[in-house]
Amino acid sequence: MNVLIYDSAEVIGQVVGKLFCDHVNNAPKACLGLATGVTPIPTYNYIAEEYAKGKVSFSNVTTFNLDEYCDLPREHRNSFYSFMMDNLFSKIDIKPENINFLDGNAADVEAESRRYAQKIEAAGGIDIQLLGIGRNGHIGFNEPSDKFTDEAFKVKLTDSTIEANSVFFDDIPMPHFAITMGIGSIMRAKKILLIATGESKAQAIKNTVEGEVTPQNPASILNQHPDVTIYLDRAAASLLK
Ligand code: GLP
Repeated sequence: MNVLIYDSAEVIGQVVGKLFCDHVNNAPKACLGLATGVTPIPTYNYIAEEYAKGKVSFSNVTTFNLDEYCDLPREHRNSFYSFMMDNLFSKIDIKPENINFLDGNAADVEAESRRYAQKIEAAGGIDIQLLGIGRNGHIGFNEPSDKFTDEAFKVKLTDSTIEANSVFFDDIPMPHFAITMGIGSIMRAKKILLIATGESKAQAIKNTVEGEVTPQNPASILNQHPDVTIYLDRAAASLLK
């Protein structure tokens, strides 16, 4: 596990965004795992700028997003689908049929989980998985638990997660359930880049980098992955020894 510390979220966005663009230029049919939240926005801004400058094309790229809310129309402005359309997909030349999300409204979650796993496998697996981290150490929506999960599943969101995200929901109550790629799905990515910025992530980062591997801190599993790099600003790194 490599830990890199930078002066700002913007610089991290440039560094991580460049890694994605370089990978896509070397492997035009790349398969990318993407995350939502505030943290990845500088990375997506950099990627969109590189595309606008004609430095990279996503026309043969396939993407898989980590998670999506349940009981929320896909086009609702607070869905993770809308977040990705607004922050990245509407700004690059990715084909709509190559954008993949878990269906938060699937009647049969088990079948949806299998569908997603098969789609990822058919795409050759995820080359680079981008992750953020929740204040409680969740990755995707894998919340603290008594076990690590494997494939995608439906999760009841914790109060901490609902509190952190409900500020964005002003027309309807925030969903209390989501569907998320499991820890196993995430760990099967060939390379993982985790970004954390701000004071609110410092404890989760300390627990992940210096703590034990436990499902009570889901991100800690990353210590068992062969190719993980964690990008931190000074605030998120502030509790590390
Ligand atoms: C949400 C998402 C995670 C994300 C986390 C942190 O719960 N499901 O994928 O990493 O929140 O979000 P932010 O980057 O806005 O702090």
